[in-house]
Amino acid sequence: EKDGYPSFMEKEIHDQPAAVGDTLLGRLDENGSLTLDEIKIDEAVLRSIDKIVVIACGTAAYAGQVARYAIEHWCRIPTEVELAHEFRYRDPIVNEKTLVVAVSQSGETMDTLMAVRHAQEQGAKVVAICNTNGSTIPREADAVLYTHAGPEIAVASTKAFLAQITAAYLLGLYLAQLRGNKYKDEIASLLTELEAMPAKIQRVLDEVEPQVKELASGMKDAGSVLFLGRHVGFPVAMEGALKLKEIAYIHAEGFAAGELKHGPIALIDQGQPVIVIVPSPNGRDSLHAKVVSNIQEIRARGAETIVIAEEGDEAVREFANHVLHVPAAPTLLQPLLATVPLQIFACELAGAKGYDVDQPRNLAKSVTVE
Ligand code: F6R
Repeated sequence: EKDGYPSFMEKEIHDQPAAVGDTLLGRLDENGSLTLDEIKIDEAVLRSIDKIVVIACGTAAYAGQVARYAIEHWCRIPTEVELAHEFRYRDPIVNEKTLVVAVSQSGETMDTLMAVRHAQEQGAKVVAICNTNGSTIPREADAVLYTHAGPEIAVASTKAFLAQITAAYLLGLYLAQLRGNKYKDEIASLLTELEAMPAKIQRVLDEVEPQVKELASGMKDAGSVLFLGRHVGFPVAMEGALKLKEIAYIHAEGFAAGELKHGPIALIDQGQPVIVIVPSPNGRDSLHAKVVSNIQEIRARGAETIVIAEEGDEAVREFANHVLHVPAAPTLLQPLLATVPLQIFACELAGAKGYDVDQPRNLAKSVTVE
């Protein structure tokens, strides 16, 4: 069932165009709007929501962080993301006007389930984003938006992550659509952009994978790898670091690029590998210029810089030891592309070190104890 791939993880990385495509399937109308019949929560209630809290653990929580940037921008609803195990014990302020979004591949993560129950006790409505039909979290939630990534066997989550982000975009755009048409044109064009993502992910696999594999096979002896990102690139950086810890047992950390000078830059010395996720040069604000200047700063201190940038972005080349180009996409959708090289990197590095990438030590696929 590995379809000829050496590991489930590698197969699942390659399943991602389909995982995203299938998660979109049947949910987009021809007239540029969204139909999410499964969100069986009264529309009046959804219109009255004044806060969204995303609860999840691990990789699913990073998907939640990506969701936050998108939902706040499109819906203008204050959105928080919290690790489920922290949420429960914090005495969180949650009520009937709070929409809780519980993200879980397995639907069985005990901490996330307990957080769902806690939120419901306070009167909140819960939407689950889940990959496993009929599992506990979707059964207890008020509504469920299934991701259609197919069964994920490898312990380290890959295709479920991209599918979770996709489902969260759909939820965000749906709420934006429901709550007024301020972003009507933007919603229609984003839906078109979303539909184009599976083919772009496929291009990353076809074009970037060989480069990443070559790079990773030369980095077997790295003692630590740092990941930097800004805006949606920040959770992508943390996800890249988590993959590397989990399966290659290499110390890795993801930072918000803007934090560099508040501490982490002290870690940079000669030869320190740093993977930087660069926002689109055509995106909002001056995100791109700021990240390019961060690359410059670390390069000047001896870092070995591996840069993931948008096709056509040549501004980064001067400061990069290696550039990996991914197709252009709206900034908020970029995580669906930028994450893929990081997954391949971790998988290849773990393989090169001789580890079982599907069954990393000490980890279980679903964490059903607290
Ligand atoms: C990392 C990973 C874990 C899970 C986390 C939540 O690769 O797989 O961090 O994301 O244990 O699991 P679910 O999504 O099943 O609730």
